[in-house]
Amino acid sequence: MSLGSLPGRVTVVEVGPRDGLQNEAAPVTVDERVAFCERLLDAGLAVVEVGAFVSPRWVPQMAGSDEVARRVGRRPGVKTPVLVPNRQGFEQAREAGVREIAVFTAASETFNRKNINATIDESFARFAEFVPQAVAEGFWVRGYVSTCFGCPYEGKVDPARVVEVAERLREVGCHEISIGDTIGVAVPSQVAEVMGRLQRTAPASALAVHLHDTRGTALANVLAALETGIAIVDSSAGGLGGCPYAPGASGNLATEDLLYMLHGMGIETGVDLSRVAAASRAIAPRLGHPLPSRYLQAGR
Ligand code: HMG
Ligand code: MG
Repeated sequence: MSLGSLPGRVTVVEVGPRDGLQNEAAPVTVDERVAFCERLLDAGLAVVEVGAFVSPRWVPQMAGSDEVARRVGRRPGVKTPVLVPNRQGFEQAREAGVREIAVFTAASETFNRKNINATIDESFARFAEFVPQAVAEGFWVRGYVSTCFGCPYEGKVDPARVVEVAERLREVGCHEISIGDTIGVAVPSQVAEVMGRLQRTAPASALAVHLHDTRGTALANVLAALETGIAIVDSSAGGLGGCPYAPGASGNLATEDLLYMLHGMGIETGVDLSRVAAASRAIAPRLGHPLPSRYLQAGR
């Protein structure tokens, strides 16, 4: 039996230095964060999210992202976005020489309130204060929609709501929308339905999936998304990750596990799996726990 048609190439969006490290209890220094980003970029990843310009009171792990962004710098043909929640974060990011940003909201009200202290409408009012300007200044802007397949506070999420929030992000100017399974509850049929619905109004080239692997369904969900035509997948080196405001959300889909599956199926990524694994192994001793990636656990 063969699979449905799959893309020949997938863009992997590495979120380990942000989504991964934002959830770690052990302090990781700016030097170590910079080294982690550089190793990941050296592995051939074309998009590496290097930090977040959020309140250090809310997410202390991301303090110093201005220095990380400055020191990682810019490489031709490579994107190094940072998360920004509001105009203040955007201005700090611009000051640090950043040229790619990611804004974030959710498909469920309660999660959004807990995560950024705003309703969904209020988050869009904030985006209107800087996203159109960022686009006009030539910034590349990504928009995340969290809790697309389930909310830790509200439970079920209506796919129509996901489509509506994604469309609003496109209207405000986002070039790419990342559809998040924040707490890792999605199953492949759900992913196929939501990603299929989104493609009635947005091209696949403007859509990504962002999957947490809390219940072991992330790789199956990637395959379901690829079968609908999606070719941009977020993942985190070592399988690090989680959102401090989403109780029970554990690691993101591991970049190593994703690359192992894609390369094994003949899908190109341009990324060197062994170098990503080396980047994860280099940061692991700082974190004080084994990394969740199955590929890493399987050994060399
Ligand atoms: P607030 O407390 O409502 O903000 O937080 P405020 O506007 O009332 O300001 C309060 C203080 O925060 C002020 O300082 C501001 O200057 C400061 P004070 O005068 O009290 O000293 N402040 C800032 N400081 C630094 N950078 C900023 C900034 N803005 C205000 N940008 C706020 C609102 C959005 C700031 C806060 O809720 C926040 O930072 N939240 C971030 C939460 C977060 O980072 N969550 C994790 C990332 S999202 C995620 O993981 C999901 C994702 O992976 C996709 C998925 O898996 O679904 C993307
Ligand atoms: Mg996430």
